Amino acid sequence: MPAAQIRPRTAQDLASCVSALATVQRADRYPVHWPEDPEGWLTPHDMLGAWVAAEGPAVLGHVALTRTDPALANAIGAPAEELAAVARLFVSTTARRRGLAAELLGHAARSAEADGLRPVLEVDSGATAAIGLYERAGWRFVSAMTADWHTANGQLAVVHAYSGPAGH
Ligand SMILES: CC(C)(COP(=O)(O)OP(=O)(O)OC[C@H]1O[C@@H](n2cnc3c(N)ncnc32)[C@H](O)[C@@H]1OP(=O)(O)O)[C@@H](O)C(=O)NCCC(=O)NCCS
Repeated sequence: MPAAQIRPRTAQDLASCVSALATVQRADRYPVHWPEDPEGWLTPHDMLGAWVAAEGPAVLGHVALTRTDPALANAIGAPAEELAAVARLFVSTTARRRGLAAELLGHAARSAEADGLRPVLEVDSGATAAIGLYERAGWRFVSAMTADWHTANGQLAVVHAYSGPAGH
């Protein structure tokens, strides 16, 4: 299989990002509900950067880095200004288990650290693939908290806060 390239996302990538996200939402209910404005969902207002795994113009995977909201900073136990949150991480269903998410995650974490910020994230406690990925990559579980949104089966989500691996 040709190697995919990890590179900064451009405006031209957004349509392909949305196509990849559609495969993910159908398969995994991530996000739980299809956003009204998927390109906007991929571009949170507090975004610090975004990267794609791409083969030519086709986007296979995506990750963003954002400022950290107070609930996650509180769960981590550090000031939000010292943290950056990994978000919007997904890989198209046809490109899984090729290491693309691990590369995207590493890219986002290194970018945070280059800016003097500690990478953190929160994950739905039921997202077994994502939790497997984070733990394999050396991320550390810090605490669990009840979220303010519902999972696909109507339960209030429990999310796990993770801190990036030391000396990444
Ligand atoms: C989680 C996700 C991004 C992983 O993408 P991926 O490109 O297939 O992951 P990688 O190939 O980089 O996997 C790296 C490691 O993570 C772990 N992992 C990945 N998928 C896993 C799974 N389904 N079950 C258990 N562990 C898994 C494994 O340790 C894997 O290494 P291995 O393949 O050598 O065993 C993908 O399954 C996805 O898009 N899921 C839906 C969206 C989502 O949950 N995003 C996270 C929101 S917080």
